[in-house]
Amino acid sequence: MACFKWVINMPTPAPFKLDLPVRPRRLRRTAARRDLVRECAVSADDLIAPLFVVEGKAPPEEIASMPGQFRLNVADLVKECRTLWKLGVKAVALFPKLDPALKDAEGTEELNEDGLILRAVRAVKKAVPELVVITDVALDPYTTHGHDGVLNAAGDDVDNDRTVARLAAMAVRQARAGVDFVAPSDMMDGRVGAIRTALDAAGFTETAILAYSVKFNSAYYGPFRDAVGSSQAAGTKLLSKATYQLDPANRRAALAEAVLDAAEGADILMVKPAGAYLDIIRDVRERSDKPLAAYQVSGEYAQIHAAARLGWLNLERTRDESLLAIKRAGADLILTYFAKDVARALA
Ligand code: PBG
Repeated sequence: MACFKWVINMPTPAPFKLDLPVRPRRLRRTAARRDLVRECAVSADDLIAPLFVVEGKAPPEEIASMPGQFRLNVADLVKECRTLWKLGVKAVALFPKLDPALKDAEGTEELNEDGLILRAVRAVKKAVPELVVITDVALDPYTTHGHDGVLNAAGDDVDNDRTVARLAAMAVRQARAGVDFVAPSDMMDGRVGAIRTALDAAGFTETAILAYSVKFNSAYYGPFRDAVGSSQAAGTKLLSKATYQLDPANRRAALAEAVLDAAEGADILMVKPAGAYLDIIRDVRERSDKPLAAYQVSGEYAQIHAAARLGWLNLERTRDESLLAIKRAGADLILTYFAKDVARALA
């Protein structure tokens, strides 16, 4: 009761004013002021759309764990590329989903000069010549065990040097089909240098290398492996890429990989995944003057969609914030399954 009396006996207070010369909120008062002081933005020019291609004539098949992403036959892939180009997306990264009957331990289907991905590249370059076409250099779509390379004699690990020889030849085949960038995603030691040497020797001095320089051994690749059918384990052994992809705990090792790839001749460096590795994107940005790409991978896309489906997150706002964060961290380019949606929203 004493307390109550004290309150009602208080004099009416004067309007409260802090003596504050610095008020950061001044610049946030109106939308126009906020627009003027915004420090970074995502534009369609920064985006690279990953696309999945399959054999045959079947209609687009949605990937269960990646809503809005489809496995496209070559004709539908070409259509999608035209649409992306019209929306202002300048680049696509193509991934083949092979008929399992074509796979073996050595990934020999990759040697086929008329194989799916090479036909897809030729069709896209013919239809939309200016679109930058990027292909993955790794054997996982072609191998029964799902590893990015060929195995050693004991069959218990990927054989680095034998794999590098295969990848260098693979990159030359892709260059001959007309790709703009080859993108080694395998994390073998020495592959960027070997690919550069092979491309130059074959006369493809203008084919660039977008190197997956800093690729972590991440759980976020799960939906992608469903999409291309590379999640199978050989026998009963679980697929682990820990002997070649980076340990997610390692920041110094990540930087060392980026420095090595730059020295071996990578034109663009990449960090992958993106969202959980923003510190690494910033580290590489500060250490190298090369253009830097980041890959917002399948699991990052799936997470946002899953939460939005449950009504727990707003899809568009979370999507845009996730991409802005990657740019702010220092990426120039972003591979993202949201490329088309964002380009459309910006158009
Ligand atoms: C394989 C490759 C992977 C991705 C791109 N290339 C997966 C893996 O290493 O198993 C992942 C992309 C994604 O998750 O969106 N060379």
